[in-house]
Amino acid sequence: MERFRVRGGAQLRGQVRVSGAKNSVLKLMAAALLAPGRSTISEVPDNLDVEIMSELLRRLGCGVQRDLPAATVTIDVPEQLGHQADYDLVRRMRASICVLGPLLVRTGEADVALPGGDAIGSRPLDLHMAGLVRLGASVENEHGFIVAKAQRLRGAGIWLDFPSVGATENLLMAAVLAEGHTVIDNAAREPEIVDLVAMLQQMGAKVDGAGTSTLEIEGVGGLTPTRHATVPDRIVAGTWAMAAAMTRGDITVTNAVPEHLEIALDKLATCGATVERRPDGFRVAMADRPRAVDAVTLPYPGFATDLLPMALALNAVAEGTAMVTENVYESRFMFVNELNRLGADIRTDGHHAVVRGRPSLSGAPVSAPDIRAGAGLVIAGLVADGVTTVSDIHHVDRGYPGFDEQLRALGADVVREADPDLFPIA
Ligand code: UD1
Repeated sequence: MERFRVRGGAQLRGQVRVSGAKNSVLKLMAAALLAPGRSTISEVPDNLDVEIMSELLRRLGCGVQRDLPAATVTIDVPEQLGHQADYDLVRRMRASICVLGPLLVRTGEADVALPGGDAIGSRPLDLHMAGLVRLGASVENEHGFIVAKAQRLRGAGIWLDFPSVGATENLLMAAVLAEGHTVIDNAAREPEIVDLVAMLQQMGAKVDGAGTSTLEIEGVGGLTPTRHATVPDRIVAGTWAMAAAMTRGDITVTNAVPEHLEIALDKLATCGATVERRPDGFRVAMADRPRAVDAVTLPYPGFATDLLPMALALNAVAEGTAMVTENVYESRFMFVNELNRLGADIRTDGHHAVVRGRPSLSGAPVSAPDIRAGAGLVIAGLVADGVTTVSDIHHVDRGYPGFDEQLRALGADVVREADPDLFPIA
């Protein structure tokens, strides 16, 4: 087990390049299953989730090769695929569920282990399952697996109760090879959905409405493999933007799409930051202490729930009091106790957090409960007096490849070290 040791006080300055989005690449890899033959995905981030997804695809019968220096993954998809995704992989990465739709439509059956909840909430899959039933599948929950079966999926009208990213992706990937016309209403509009649609279109799928809340899909008889570059990671880009403002630094973020972060960048401007858009990204600089700013998380194009920890950390050292509201996950505020260990003054009540800004935080040992909260705690450590250690950083590594190297390159005093706190209790 490892931890980050962060010494507070640095103002982050310099340039940082963002890699492809973790949340997109996993779905692009699942989409490759839709076409026998070789698909290649580039701008692949170097993280464990891609490794887990590669293993999952191998167990389904694919050949998967990662070229780390070139940041590509090549997937050779056979005519005959397996149809089972086991719990040992799904429990390590709940996004494994994204193979459900492609497997079902390719093989007539998909058995995917149920992932269970995690640190940020219960995360049910009812919308995925109800949508597949609409497309003509039988879907049962058997012995810890979702077992979906259908000789042939048929296009249908699907209205999602909530614009779930994962459900939209699964249903989209099933519908592209279903017979006839499918409409997914109240679909998610995230840039990762647009990225997936772009890849599917290159493979020969007929999909309209990417980036809007209505996706229209005309099923086709077959798809062909393709090459596709993963969209830049907007959550990582947003994390750097917030870190620049919090540490009163000056960071130029490259390979980023400012349009994917409109609200977050606008919030930073409201805080008093200078925000400049550039052809290949953006720059965020901050001279003074940030002013408190309210934030309300919502599905895209709303303020991203995955940036909530950074919004809390920023307000924790801002001038004034902010109200931060979480609308996507029931337990995302769980990590507030860790932030309060660093001296933050945050009180939560249901979906709301009231953050009273303090001039600075105070270093302490904390642990990362999930990917984004972990990144938020590391950034908070940069504005804390003294030393902060952040344990359980395997979570952070899943979403932020090379986080400590990048932080050091921007001037932070951050090291990765063995976590000595682990000892057996007799
Ligand atoms: C994806 C992202 C995650 C991000 C989230 C919301 C990946 C790998 N992860 O997760 O980082 O935080 O989008 O932007 O892409 N829900 C249901 N029933 C369902 C499906 C979802 O009630 O069948 C609920 C969930 O419990 C949650 C909300 O909808 O409260 C959003 O979930 P969803 O959009 O599906 O998120 P994921 O695709 O799991």
